[in-house]
Order: sequence, then structure tokens, then C-alpha cells
Amino acid sequence: MTNSAPVSTRRDLADAPLLVAARGGQPRHTPVWFMRQAGRSLPEYRRAREGTPMLQACLTPDLVSEITLQPVRRHGVDAAILFSDIVLPLYAAGVGLDIVAGTGPVVSEPIEGPADVSALPSLEAGQVEPVAEAVRLLVSELGDTPLIGFAGAPFTLASYLVEGGPSRNHERTKALMHSDPQTWHALLEKLADTTLEFLRVQVGAGVDAIQLFDSWAGALSLRDYREFVLPHSRRIFEGVAELADIPKIHFGVGTGELLGAMRNAGPDVVGVDWRVPLDTAVARLGAAEPGAAKPVVQGNLDPAVLFAGWDAVEREVHRILAEGREAGGHIFNLGHGVLPTTDPEVLTRVVELVHTTTSQR
Ligand code: CP3
Repeated sequence: MTNSAPVSTRRDLADAPLLVAARGGQPRHTPVWFMRQAGRSLPEYRRAREGTPMLQACLTPDLVSEITLQPVRRHGVDAAILFSDIVLPLYAAGVGLDIVAGTGPVVSEPIEGPADVSALPSLEAGQVEPVAEAVRLLVSELGDTPLIGFAGAPFTLASYLVEGGPSRNHERTKALMHSDPQTWHALLEKLADTTLEFLRVQVGAGVDAIQLFDSWAGALSLRDYREFVLPHSRRIFEGVAELADIPKIHFGVGTGELLGAMRNAGPDVVGVDWRVPLDTAVARLGAAEPGAAKPVVQGNLDPAVLFAGWDAVEREVHRILAEGREAGGHIFNLGHGVLPTTDPEVLTRVVELVHTTTSQR
């Protein structure tokens, strides 16, 4: 081990591969976890969730703890990710919304103009106390497996609030951004406050790392991302950095053109989807900051490849591990979330393959 200093201030996780890799150290094996590892691909998840609406489940500490632990038990992944949702803090703050199965978050009164932005409530810590309780339960149960907390980034949250639900083209969101920049920035500022408060609660309760999901940022040009989104995401990373010295991960889909700018927002690790090979991503990320440390990346197996049979999966895992060696650190993951019809056995085999391949080095 080259990293002997504790990498977490909360539990003694000095050797935890996820945290060592996130800091650019030499982990005992390449860490692996999966976005959406807790969810519908697992029969035990479907059983646990039966009869409980999604957002209610997220506010029930025992259930959050159980669902968060399921993929750790089953797959032996190197991290747990808190079972929650990016829209939970909005719901908890009083925004009228629901998560509709098969669709996603649906907002009852979408934001149209400045009056709606002024009326948007901000989150108070007490409103997500069940999440803090769930984190405390998990930290006591997880042993030497780190817990990743998370939140949605302001742009992706704004997209749901302005469009009223999932959107292919984000036309209302982009119309507001370009026609009324003042209202746009006021909205993103409020959302950044809520996101930061939600992360503050999770960090205070003991999460070991955080991931900021800007899932739909890839819909933006680099110019628009820099002007309308980056300053708000940066404020969140700066805010978290003031709270604790824990690794911060930033991820979005289709962000090949934005990788350098996303790194400039201030994360320690940048998530990459399957469209950009990790070695190419490293070159793009490095170019953003001349002289900076080699970037640490997370990714990037195409979740659809998990349906292609083991030979194809194995080939792709080996390719990704080889490309990841160009980085200052590599956290193996999918390029986006686990699809609900994925065979969980394949996920378990991927974890074993990544571990055996990388611990023989
Ligand atoms: O990764 C994990 O295992 C932790 C849990 C997690 C969920 N949502 C649980 C969930 C995480 C990290 C999220 C984040 C999230 N939520 C994102 C960012 C990640 C991404 O996929 O880009 C986004 C965009 C959302 C919004 C959202 N919530 C969507 C698009 C959906 C899916 C709708 C559907 O049914 O197809 C949800 C619901 C949701 N969030 C489910 C889960 C397990 C499904 C709810 C169910 O089981 O009925």
C-alpha cells in the first residue's frame, strides 16, 4: 500500500479500494460498483419494495438500509450507494411531485417563470431526517465497505421541474435558460442550495464519498454548460469540500464534449459513459488543466452489453480495464445505470472478473 494515511475521516477505511482509487493511490484491486445497483434487477429489491411507493420507501430508514445493503451482500461490490432519488429533497421540501414507475419523476406544477422560482421551497435539514437516520444505520452495518451518498445536480433537477417530467429535447428548460437568464440563474441557485443541504445531511450522518448526478447535462453545448450550469455545480463541490475531506464524483450521460468542464466544477473523479473510451476521456480531462494530477475516472461498461453473453462481457471488461490504466485511478462502473431486466448473476461475475484480473498484477 502506498496510501497509509486514513482516506476517510469517519470510519477507518484507509484501505478501501474505492477511496484509495478516488485519491489516485494504488488500491489492492480495481474497485467496482454499479449505478442503480439497488433496484429492479434484484428480486429481493422487488420483494422489499412491494406495496411501498418509491418516495415513501426513500423516507423509511429500515427499508433504505435493507435495499442499500442488498447489492453489497449479493455482488460483493466495493461500495454501497444510498437508496434514494435525486428528486427526494424537492419532494421533502414540499414540491408537488411523484415518481411514476416506468416513466420517472413527474412534477404537478412545472416552473414557468420568476414567480414560480420565488415560490420554490428550499430544503431544511429536518425534512430529510429519515435519510440521516438511514445513513447512520448503514454506517454501523457496512463494516469496511464505503457508503456513497448522492444528489442531483441543479441542471438535471431544473430539467424535471421545468419540463414537468422526463424530456428528450429539454426544450422548455433551454427556452427558459436563453430567454430569461436571470430567472434561470435564480432557479439554479435555489436548487444548488437544496442539493448542498441534502449532501450536508448525508455527510453529517457519515457517508464516505458523494456522487453528484448531472445525468442530462450532455444535452447542452459546452458553451451553454459553462455559462448556465458550471458555476452552480462548482458551488456545490466547493461547499462539500468545506464539510469533509471525502471523495467527490461527478457523472452525466453523453458528456463527451463536457468532460473537461465537468472536471473544472471540482470533483475528484469524473464518471464517463460508454461513448468515450476511458483513455480518450483521460486525454480530454487532462487537457483541461495543464500540469494538474492525472485524472481519476469512473466507468464505463455499456449496460446493454450485459445482455450480450459472457464472452462479449468479458472482452469488454478487459478492454475497459486496459484503457483505465491510462488514468490516475480507475473505479469500474457501468456507463449508466443497471437496466431493470439485467440478469443479476452477470453483475456478480463482472465484480469477480474485475477483482481477479486486477489483484493478480
Ligand atoms: O444507484 C442506486 O442503486 C441508488 C439508487 C438511485 C435511484 N435513483 C433509485 C431509483 C439513484 C442513484 C437514483 C438517481 C436518479 N434518479 C437519477 C440519476 C441517475 C441516472 O439514472 O441518471 C435520475 C435521473 C433519477 C430520476 C429517476 N428516478 C428516474 C429516471 C427513475 C426511473 C423511472 C422508471 O421507473 O423507469 C426513477 C425512479 C427510481 N429511482 C427507481 C429506483 C430504484 C425505480 C423505482 C421503482 O422501483 O419503481
